Amino acid sequence: MTSQVIRYGGDYNPEQWPREVWDEDVTLMQRAGVTTATVGVFSWAKLEPSPGEYDFAWLDEVLDTLHTGGIEVILATATASPPPWLAHRHPESLPVTIDGVRLAVGSRQQYSPSSSAYREHALRLVRKMAERYARHPAVTLWHIGNEYGCHVPRSYDEESAAAFRVWLEKRYGTIDELNRAWGTAFWSQRYGSFEEVGVPSRMPTDGNATQAIDFDRFSSDALLELYRAEREVIRSVDPDAVATTNFMGLFRHADYWAWAREVDVISDDLYPDPADSRSHILAAATRDLMRSLGGGRPWLLMEQATSAVNWRPINVPKHRGQNRLHSLQCVARGADGILHFQWRQSVAGTEKFHSAMVPHAGPDSRIHREVRALGAELKDLGDLIGQPVPAVVAIVLDWDSWRAVEQPSTPRQLTYDQTIYAWYEGFLRRGVAVDFVAPGADTSGYRLVVAPLANVLNDAAVSRLGEVVTRGDVLVAGYQSGVLDEDLHARLGGYLGGAGSALQRALGVRVEEFAPLPDGVTTALTGDLAGQGTVWQEIVIPVGAQVVSAFSDGFTAGHPAVTRQDATGGGVGWYVATEPDTDTRDALVDRWLTDAGVEAAFASAEPGIETVVRGGRRFVGNHTPEHRVVTVAGTSVELEPYGALFLSAEGADR
Ligand code: GLA
Repeated sequence: MTSQVIRYGGDYNPEQWPREVWDEDVTLMQRAGVTTATVGVFSWAKLEPSPGEYDFAWLDEVLDTLHTGGIEVILATATASPPPWLAHRHPESLPVTIDGVRLAVGSRQQYSPSSSAYREHALRLVRKMAERYARHPAVTLWHIGNEYGCHVPRSYDEESAAAFRVWLEKRYGTIDELNRAWGTAFWSQRYGSFEEVGVPSRMPTDGNATQAIDFDRFSSDALLELYRAEREVIRSVDPDAVATTNFMGLFRHADYWAWAREVDVISDDLYPDPADSRSHILAAATRDLMRSLGGGRPWLLMEQATSAVNWRPINVPKHRGQNRLHSLQCVARGADGILHFQWRQSVAGTEKFHSAMVPHAGPDSRIHREVRALGAELKDLGDLIGQPVPAVVAIVLDWDSWRAVEQPSTPRQLTYDQTIYAWYEGFLRRGVAVDFVAPGADTSGYRLVVAPLANVLNDAAVSRLGEVVTRGDVLVAGYQSGVLDEDLHARLGGYLGGAGSALQRALGVRVEEFAPLPDGVTTALTGDLAGQGTVWQEIVIPVGAQVVSAFSDGFTAGHPAVTRQDATGGGVGWYVATEPDTDTRDALVDRWLTDAGVEAAFASAEPGIETVVRGGRRFVGNHTPEHRVVTVAGTSVELEPYGALFLSAEGADR
């Protein structure tokens, strides 16, 4: 980050407005404390009205106008939405759905990630942009593409199939190795050569699971490759260029652990639903993920709405103060910039009812007044820039497990992200900071490592998780963890990484059978910890672990639901074979924290309230419509509905 004020602003699309509005925009931006405008995200058609014919004069003027006004520019490469002429000349560049439907021009992102025509034209534009603007004094960051994969995460066209085969050949080397990994001895699926392999389009019934996950992996890589190609063009012009692309929180179709390695600044777009009283959980988890993806370094909120979006069936506005709450939540959880989609609300197009920083009603409006107030408030938080958010609890997050548990032909299709949010919520309710980690990551800085639904674990990840207890820390694993290896082959001998694995030893259990519960069916848990289980049951065989809680009815009656083992090495291993109800989960979190010696900020669960410490300053936010008084780390704090504050190091409000 370049400045010592928190970046503030949003997407700016001046091409939708007459020239005279631009000057008013800059004046209004200055009054609102805006520091940053993201320009050009959807400008390709205006920048290159016909192939090879460029019009940069207007963008020159936009950048100069902003620069003169003291507004820095995040410059987009403008490749997010190709102009109609591309598909007109290259219909094969359009994406194809799983059912073979070629998607039409008229919205956006209508390109196949593997289209050579798209790539060629996009890179040509990026080179022109980089040559013209890389050294423009207003430009501080490159915004490559936009929300890669948002609408078209994958395409089933011919070029994608060819690229998939190349990817497979690189991954497996030989067709024999592919046959082994894909388990093609099953259902006569053996391939004689890579040429015979296709994309997993619509099939008579559920297809090969490893082919499906490989296509997911390939599709994430294909998009990432586009990002990389654009970045390399920019770097070839300016080796010092700083680049990002905007992530979309826990987005199933892009493995952000891999993506994070390629961006200089982690940035994210998030639109928590104001109508959902639980959306703050998703929001807090997402902010923590963004910080974690960058290994703790500051990140940038690239987009949020000041109020309503346009793309839900019912687009409820944010509550008064809620955009401030969301913004401060980001800063508290590691963001050094708060940007919005978009500066001025459009008059035409799909997003004309999407809120903005300057709404249809103009600057004399509730929304714009809140925008100005937030700009002023962020100016005072500059001391948090670059500051870390310490956490000693880690949750394992893994795209392969996500892909695997949501595949068909599993005992029960599970919703991975909702499960992650549910387990995360237990810590949020106690005011305990959480980082996310990849399954094979070094977790030695954490006292408590929690692995919900860690379904796919390679050998290294199994060992890594086992090490948590042998080094003296606490490991919690959830149901369905360690069931599959990276080829999605079942691990034999009592799951959880397979017979005699480091994970089985760490937890002191084997898993003999699954018994998923139908929707709405619960199972009573009895013992030292009583409560309800939902979603899942298992036949767990303790091999050293103590039973904390047992299933009391149905197929698994009498078998352990929750176990705990004091492991050799001084650590503790917990296993949870069901999805506990909220109270039971709170009680479990309490025990895990005690085992790990981690102190919670709230003495007991505080639904709807969050707290986190950044740079020695404690943030407290109220995500409920009620006035609340809470005790946070010994200090009593009063919060308005949707109110938020930072306590100074001494405990006084600021
Ligand atoms: C995404 C896109 C923006 C805009 C917003 C609307 O975040 O990146 O261009 O469409 O959604 O919410």
